[in-house]
Order: sequence, then C-alpha cells, then structure tokens
Amino acid sequence: MNATGLTPIDFALDRAAVARALEQLVARTLAGETGPVADAIRYALVGEGKRLRAILVMEAYRAAGGTGDVSALAAAVEVVHAYSLVHDDLPCMDDDDMRRGRATVHKVYGVGAATAAGMAMVPLAAHAADEAAQGLGLSREVRGAIVRTLMQASGAGGMIGGQLLDLEGEGLSLDLAQLERIHRCKTGALIEAAMRLGGLAANASPAMLAAFGRYGASIGLAFQITDDVLDITATTDELGKTAGKDLHLRKSTYPALLGIAGATGRAESLVQEACQGLQDQGALSPELEHLARFVVARRS
Ligand code: IPE
Ligand code: IPE
Ligand code: MG
Ligand code: MG
Ligand code: MG
Repeated sequence: MNATGLTPIDFALDRAAVARALEQLVARTLAGETGPVADAIRYALVGEGKRLRAILVMEAYRAAGGTGDVSALAAAVEVVHAYSLVHDDLPCMDDDDMRRGRATVHKVYGVGAATAAGMAMVPLAAHAADEAAQGLGLSREVRGAIVRTLMQASGAGGMIGGQLLDLEGEGLSLDLAQLERIHRCKTGALIEAAMRLGGLAANASPAMLAAFGRYGASIGLAFQITDDVLDITATTDELGKTAGKDLHLRKSTYPALLGIAGATGRAESLVQEACQGLQDQGALSPELEHLARFVVARRS
C-alpha cells in the first residue's frame, strides 16, 4: 500500500518509456535550436509530471489488444498537456510561480517565451502524433482520426474553450451544470482523447472506442474535481504547485458548491460509473481500474 491506499501497480516502466519518447522528440525536433523559446519547450516537456494521460493511452491500447510500442503516441498527448500547463500558469491566466515542484516556465524564461513556447507545442504535438501513428504502421485513415481527435480535444470545443470559460467564471457564482461543463472541457476532453487515441492505435471497434471515450470523460471530470479538492486539502509541498489558488482567484469549484465530502463523493461515483461502463464492454483491465481509482485517491 502507498499514500493513496491503493496497492501500487507499477507504471514505472511506462513512465520511463514516455520520458524517453519525450526526450527523443525534443532531440529530433529542436536539434540545434537555441534561444529562450526552444529552451522553454525543453523545460516544459521534461518536467516531473505524473504522465497520467500518457499511461491512459498505453493502457487503452493494451486493453484493446495492442501489442506494439505506443509510447511515442502517448508522449504526443503529454505535449498538449504540458502546453496547457505552461499557458495555465501565465500571469494572464492563473498566474502561478510553481509547477511540478519548480519554477513555472514564464518565471524562468519570461512571459513572451513561455507564451510562444506553448503555441509552438500545439503543432509539435500534432506532428508527434502523426509520426507516432505512422511508426505504428496505421492506415492513413486512422492516422487522420488520431491527429483530429487530439487537436479537437485541445481546441475551442475542448481544453482551450474550457480554459476560457474557467477564466470568465472567476468571481461569479456558477451553478453545478456550468461548472461541470467547464471541467469536462478544460480537463475531461484531453483525458477522453487519450483513451480514444489508445483505442484508435489498436484499431478498436467503434463500440469499444465509444466505451473508452465515456470512461475517459468520466474519470477526466473526476480528475478535475479531485484537483479542486486537493487545492484545499493538500500542501504546496505535496502538490508541487501552490495550494489554495482557487479561493485566491475566486474560481467556482466543486468543493465550493458541494463541500469536500460532496465533491469527493461525486468524483468517486464517476469513477464507479467509468469502471462499470468498461466492464459492461468487457474492456476493463486491472490497470484501467487502478488508474480510475488513482484519479480520486491520489495526493498530488
Ligand atoms: C494538472 O494536471 C492540471 C489539471 C488538469 C488539473 P496533472 O495533475 O496531471 O499534472 P502533472 O502532469 O502531473 O504535472
Ligand atoms: C487546469 O486546471 C486545467 C488545464 C487545462 C491546465 P487548474 O488551473 O485547476 O490546474 P492547476 O491546479 O493549475 O494544475
Ligand atoms: Mg486554471
Ligand atoms: Mg491553474
Ligand atoms: Mg487546480
């Protein structure tokens, strides 16, 4: 057992494979590039993240019968995620000084370089996803679906749209339905896409892709609810980012609307729903069950 109360399933090998894939991507695409923007991209990509989205790609792929090395595709999702964090921390967004236990990208390289680095990471992610899909020998059609799924999840109807709604909501009393929409967009969309990408790479059936999507959307919402809870209940040291930011920024959050116990209960029932849905589809691996439970049980 560890601090989360879960018997650990060791994802260390997967995390190491993703780290390697990110290092190789940086080496290939930024070779010889100097200056603060390239340095900011390197810094953002090699930071100590949990790599949850990448691991979900890998576990969805395996649950759908994939047997190849999908780490480069998993890394592409982490590129989008890392970009979202670079921009989320900017002074015009959440204005954070600390991320992943160290100074945020704009604190090290300046706001201009951090903004440009984040923007450059979007086409980098699309390129990485396409290259990875090609490396897996996938058809043109599936490659297109992979890049489209990742970019749609990152765009105005997904992550970035949710981030804008989140900012516009500061200081307002949003109701639960409005808050759920924000959380599903800003965080759920990319986690859903990670699951779909793993399925697409394994040529999963449409029914299985839909089941993966539903699982991802549910644990994605649970992930952001838990992030809101941890912002109150965990320390800056545990989180590697400044605790107590949401209250300070007057964000609407699940614990503000439902209380800590109510928010945690909602996250737990989403995880239950997610696992049941995959079980019904015959696609619930022990790893996907563990990851769903980790989303709520984690302390960072
Ligand atoms: C933080 O995501 C941003 C949210 C969507 C809440 P993570 O908690 O997955 O961050 P890292 O990648 O582990 O640093
Ligand atoms: C961020 O939500 C969601 C993203 C898309 C990056 P938060 O603003 O709550 O994430 P943290 O708490 O800064 O990691
Ligand atoms: Mg934010
Ligand atoms: Mg933030
Ligand atoms: Mg947060």
